[in-house]
Formats: sequence, structure tokens, C-alpha cells
Amino acid sequence: MKENEFIARFGRIYEHSPWVAEKAAPLVDGSADVDVIARVMEDCVDNASRERRLALIRAHPDLAGQAAVAGELTVDSETEQSSAGLDQCSPEEYVRFQALNEAYRGKFGFPFVMAVRNKSRTEILAAFESRLENDYDAEFETALLEIHKIARLRLVALGAN
Ligand code: GUN
Repeated sequence: MKENEFIARFGRIYEHSPWVAEKAAPLVDGSADVDVIARVMEDCVDNASRERRLALIRAHPDLAGQAAVAGELTVDSETEQSSAGLDQCSPEEYVRFQALNEAYRGKFGFPFVMAVRNKSRTEILAAFESRLENDYDAEFETALLEIHKIARLRLVALGAN
């Protein structure tokens, strides 16, 4: 697969961050196994500057947030959020998500990111409350680990080998 084909196919794997596919394109063939592509893309993120990694975290929308209500999510994020039933929150759950999103962003300066595909709203809310207690460095690292999980699930969903 040519580099420009790789970028066209995998540019959306990291949310609003095609630079990851651009960095990975010369390093791995697009017909390699999911695991191989995933590792190369992970390395590109992990070797990027702290500013770039922070921007990557900040490129994620809130869970059950304003962008979801406004229908402004990427196709991938919408699929993930609806697979977790986040588009079917009760009014009480919705209010809870807004309060947690605000508290989390207020404390850390970036959104709460969790690989939510096929998780339940109860599991997500429990993780949200627990992670809100962590310190900045722990959440910075956890957010990136979750982003790598999201990327792997997106690669599998795309039907990479
Ligand atoms: N987990 C899976 N997709 C998403 C997303 O788009 N935003 C956040 N915050 N977490 C996610």
C-alpha cells in the first residue's frame, strides 16, 4: 500500500489527528496485521512532544456531551458512544455526565477519555467517578492508554488484517 493510501485509510484512527497516520505511513505497510500497525501508530504518539499528546487528548469530544447532542461527532466516536448506550441516557444520567465532564475538565484541562465501545453506562460512570480522584500525571497517562485502546478497536472495526 502506498503512503498516501495508508494516510487516507488510517488517518481517522486517532481522533481528529491524521498526523499519526502521516508519521506511521513510511514505517509500516497498510496490509500488515492490526497488531503491527497498532504498535507503530502507538509509538508515533508516544514519541511525539508533550504538547502534541495533550492536543491529541483534547481532540476528543466529551462523552454524552454537547457535540453528541448537536450531532457533531465523528462517525467513529458516534458509533462508540452509541454502542455504550450513551445516546440513550435518562435525564438524570445526562445531568450526571454533564456534571462529571465539567468537573473533570475543570481539574485536568482535558476531556475524560475512555474506550467505551461495548461498555455500559454504569461501568463508564463508575470509572469516571473513580478517575476524577487521580492526579494529573496519572490521568494524562491513562488518557493516552485509553486512546491507544480506542485506536486498536477502530483498526479492527475498519477490517484491517
Ligand atoms: N471513547 C471512545 N470514543 C470516545 C470519544 O470520542 N470521546 C471520549 N471522551 N472517549 C471515547
